[in-house]
Amino acid sequence: MRIVIQADALAAAAFVATAIANQIKKKPNSCLGLATGGTPVGAYRELIRIHSERRLSFAEVTTFNLDEYVGLSADHSCSYRRFMTDNLFQFLDIPLEQTFVPIGDAADLAKECAEYEDRIRQAGGIDLQLLGIGSDGHIAFNEPGSSLASRTRVKTLTHQTRLDNARFFDSMDLVPTSAITMGVGTILESREILLIACGASKALAIAEAVEGPITASLPASSLQMHLCVTLVIDELAASGLKRSDYYRQSETERARLEKSTVR
Ligand code: PGA
Repeated sequence: MRIVIQADALAAAAFVATAIANQIKKKPNSCLGLATGGTPVGAYRELIRIHSERRLSFAEVTTFNLDEYVGLSADHSCSYRRFMTDNLFQFLDIPLEQTFVPIGDAADLAKECAEYEDRIRQAGGIDLQLLGIGSDGHIAFNEPGSSLASRTRVKTLTHQTRLDNARFFDSMDLVPTSAITMGVGTILESREILLIACGASKALAIAEAVEGPITASLPASSLQMHLCVTLVIDELAASGLKRSDYYRQSETERARLEKSTVR
């Protein structure tokens, strides 16, 4: 695992946006896995800036979002489809038909989940998956206890997750009780994973995900099994890490080696 500690949320967002932009430069028809929530918004803002100022085209990119609330239609003001339109897609040159978000009000949810997996497969798999992390260590909506082999399916949301997300709704009662989510197994098949976490409320989950045992009780800990994961965190989210000095030293060493290779 590569642990990148940035001074603040703004710097973390800039790092993530640059990594995504570099992926698209390297492979213009990249398949990106995208996340919703408060944390990725800064990175999306920066990507929009890179797109408009540096003319980075998303015309050949395909995207798959991690999850969607069950029961919300695509045009519902709190749906993740709407979130993506409002915060990213409307500002890019990506064709709508190349953007995928699970359909939360599908008549047959099990069929929608199976088809979502098929769509990812048909697209050739995800090159770079962006993740956030819940205060309880969930990734996407894989709540504590989720099978580490799980595929896209419907998950019941924990009370904590509903509380955390209530800020996006008019009242707690309106927060859906379940969601379609990519599984942990689905996420781990991505070729590369970039997790962003900011703020003190994420410190415990980050510490356990990086330095604790691999356990279904903390789904983010499964990332320890992946060959190519980068955690981009701010100082507050890093505050529970025991080996933060070592992670900083590793980044300094990485930069030194890159410089000497370039020369
Ligand atoms: P947040 O959500 O970015 O709104 O904190 C992250 C998550 O639950 O994955």
